[in-house]
Amino acid sequence: MDKEIFLKAAKEFGTPLYLYDLRVIKKRLEMVERTLKNVEHKIFFAFKSNSNPHLLEFVKSLGFGADVVSMNEYKMAKLVGFSPSNIVVNGNGKITDELKVYARDGVGCVNVDSSEEIQRFPDLSARIAIRINPDVDAKTHPYISTGLKKNKFGVNMESASAIIRSLPSNLKLVGIHSHIGSQITDISTFVDAFKSLKSFIDKESLKLEFVNIGGGWGIDYSHKGEGLNLQDYQEKVVPILKSFGVPIHLELGRFIVGPAGYLVTRVLELKRTTSKNFVIVDTSMSDLIRPSLYGAHHHIEFFPDGSEEIVADVVGRVCETGDTLGKNRKIFKPEIGDLGVIYNVGAYGYAMSSNYNLSLRPAEVAFDGRNLKLIRRRETLEDIVKLCDFSKNSKQ
Ligand code: LLP
Repeated sequence: MDKEIFLKAAKEFGTPLYLYDLRVIKKRLEMVERTLKNVEHKIFFAFKSNSNPHLLEFVKSLGFGADVVSMNEYKMAKLVGFSPSNIVVNGNGKITDELKVYARDGVGCVNVDSSEEIQRFPDLSARIAIRINPDVDAKTHPYISTGLKKNKFGVNMESASAIIRSLPSNLKLVGIHSHIGSQITDISTFVDAFKSLKSFIDKESLKLEFVNIGGGWGIDYSHKGEGLNLQDYQEKVVPILKSFGVPIHLELGRFIVGPAGYLVTRVLELKRTTSKNFVIVDTSMSDLIRPSLYGAHHHIEFFPDGSEEIVADVVGRVCETGDTLGKNRKIFKPEIGDLGVIYNVGAYGYAMSSNYNLSLRPAEVAFDGRNLKLIRRRETLEDIVKLCDFSKNSKQ
């Protein structure tokens, strides 16, 4: 993205600001399509990574299905125009009334997370897949690793066999599902997981419509080439996917929208202590919690006039030591008011933001290569107060 666009967006909409480049979303989809060109597939967009309705509408126009994990994500999918048959429902702890809605609406597939969920399923016909936990270490951050037997998601192979043997007649097993984690860059974990799924399906002689392999494709946060190697994926993983002999379903979030998002911020202060330089910016862990929560690295760049280099921690002004957006970063020394950009925030950025310290959520803007369009206005204090039904007059 051109520096001029960051400057223009900041001038027009203020900072902090989430800016999305729609062209990147399209490009990322093309990269996935190229990688999977030898195997029949369908891609569902993981709503949890970014649920701005304008963005979802754009994603829908590119031909994605919807992957949802809550009733509200499901309602949003319908609001945006996804038909129920183009929606896959994930998540643990689905409540019985929700299952009823999914069954009545005829959603494409409910990925069942436990035998208890099967027992609670209403007596209505539904298309289901069983989420299998293959006990494979995704070698990613423990908080976003989901495919180990100690994790809360899915069922092991033995339980899956038992579920299949006693499946009530109203439930049609159309697929097998597995999602072993997120931000995966180690190909061997995919290979191990999918090989074990394949032997399970063979052992059970299952006749399926598809195999859903979840999401998890890792991206290059450090800008040093750490993302998933797509050529390796094509060579080592795709042949296993082909061997399933049925279409492959994927639920991708981060790989599609992560690199399309930028958090545009301004420098509030440069603070020098005896041991460190701090660049204090007008965004924080409230807008982007990934560095604080996972120790995640996001590339950060400032655009000062000068070219003096310094090493500094980039921090917000939330009252937490953990409110650090980047540690020991080598950057061009900015001045107060200079613009900075935090990269790869399109997934799990705004979606995980909060009002901590009464921070107001940033505006969101989409760029299509020509125009900037406001797709969510900046939050105001009134928005928050409104939820509390509080006014000074109500006290009198
Ligand atoms: N399918 C299922 C069942 C999932 O649980 C997830 C993500 C996805 C698909 C999409 O995964 P992706 O393609 O985006 O890796 N907040 C964390 C990520 C949590 C991911 C949760 N599940 C982060 O900021 O890294």
